[in-house]
Amino acid sequence: MTSQTIPVEPFDFVIFGGTGDLARRKLLPSLFLRDCAGQIPAESRIIGVSREALSDIEFREKAAAALKAHLPAKVFTKEASDKFQERLYYHHLDVLTPDGWEEFAAALHAAPSRIRSFYLATAPRLFGEIAKMLGQLNLVCDGCRVVLEKPLGSDLDTANEINDAVGKVFSEDQIFRIDHYLGKETVQNLMALRFANTLFEPLWNSAHIDHVQITVAESIGVGTRGGYYDHAGALRDMVQNHLIQLVCLTAMEPPSEFEAGAVRDEKLKILRALRPIDEASVEAVTVRGQYKSGAVDGKAVPGYVDEISGEESSTETFVALKCEIDNWRWAGVPYYLRTGKRLPARASEIVISFKTVPHSIFGNSAGPIAANRLIIRLQPDEGVKLSLMIKEPGPGGMRLVEVPLDMTFAETFDVRQPDAYERLIMDVVRGNLTLFMRRDEVEAAWRWIDPIRAGWETRSVKPHGYAAGTWGPTASIALIERDGRTWHEDDEG
Ligand code: BG6
Repeated sequence: MTSQTIPVEPFDFVIFGGTGDLARRKLLPSLFLRDCAGQIPAESRIIGVSREALSDIEFREKAAAALKAHLPAKVFTKEASDKFQERLYYHHLDVLTPDGWEEFAAALHAAPSRIRSFYLATAPRLFGEIAKMLGQLNLVCDGCRVVLEKPLGSDLDTANEINDAVGKVFSEDQIFRIDHYLGKETVQNLMALRFANTLFEPLWNSAHIDHVQITVAESIGVGTRGGYYDHAGALRDMVQNHLIQLVCLTAMEPPSEFEAGAVRDEKLKILRALRPIDEASVEAVTVRGQYKSGAVDGKAVPGYVDEISGEESSTETFVALKCEIDNWRWAGVPYYLRTGKRLPARASEIVISFKTVPHSIFGNSAGPIAANRLIIRLQPDEGVKLSLMIKEPGPGGMRLVEVPLDMTFAETFDVRQPDAYERLIMDVVRGNLTLFMRRDEVEAAWRWIDPIRAGWETRSVKPHGYAAGTWGPTASIALIERDGRTWHEDDEG
């Protein structure tokens, strides 16, 4: 099976922060892979912008090194890389000073009718300044879009400042607020699973679902990102965006069509139906954790504090929480969310736990009947697994066993699983906003998150320590077990 590519018109793709970590690890490799797939028209330009004084040639050399470092050897070839280099250009700009902007603008004005995307992969405090300059230089035309990378603020007020500043220059339908989780194949497959099959949707409600679990586990630590992370913490870094978006896609009503307005309207309804967690409830329904030293994959690793600087910190690297959606479909069905760094494995999944059968006709000798579970694995080994009860084969009476009906996409489809950024970057070029966050969604997410942080502060809720390489603090196990449920472990089937 081959994957299809949809052709696009020639475009200029400008990356502010063109030599930064995101550009090197994700943006340039993704553009390269789209180029290899024949999706980037030859006249298109990818223009890196940053404070480093580099020539086009030096930028190309850096880009080639980044591709080599971040792509598997089997997709990186010298020939493809050389071809890709021809699309790359560079402008040396300090966005806070006027030097260099005129030359930059002249280069873009040389192709006035092209689709023009500005990807802001810089510190968010610069978003407003960059937008202002682009406006002043008349670079914002009809076929222009701007992409805003997270973090979009650190609370509702700071998010509003950014959105106001960018909104003065770009209209809402030109603003692509990226959450790369929405570009992951399995996340989009969740839409297909729910809305292209009749099997699940009639059962997708409180009459048949007992609870939902969403886990986004990482085995890596904060690494070199301590400066940013220590001010953010897992709640803002992961829950406010990625996990909440997964909740929305799992819980939303069927949109009338797979189109930006319709999808985002439905997600917003979920965000607005999330039961607030405040000072009164925060200790009962949330758990904070911070990793200590331990071992991951058999390798000793330092604790968070030693990794960042050695100074005490009360930033959480793990969060578990129970959230409720106050609407007809989900009343009484808790969503348990957890995410953390330095957990035993990189494993992200959504587990839909159905209710058990109302009565067993088989008697005690058949063994217990486990509830069906639909497990949507985001990474690694993207796929979908449905656990079913069947009769254990062979003679000896009726004994029931739980078996997985397993579809691992890599085995089913012989195509490379694209990186989330590949899909999202091309959606930007095509002007398709469906998988991007609208301003009101971001605001609603912060409105739900801010009281949790405030509650932690007022109640002095400190993170529990957990050893690196474990599944977080024991309090997170207690959080779900208090309700008579357990976190799903992958070897359970
Ligand atoms: C980013 C967070 O948004 O997502 C990181 O800032 C995190 O802290 C990353 O590591 C996880 O993304 P993925 O695609 O590796 O699951």
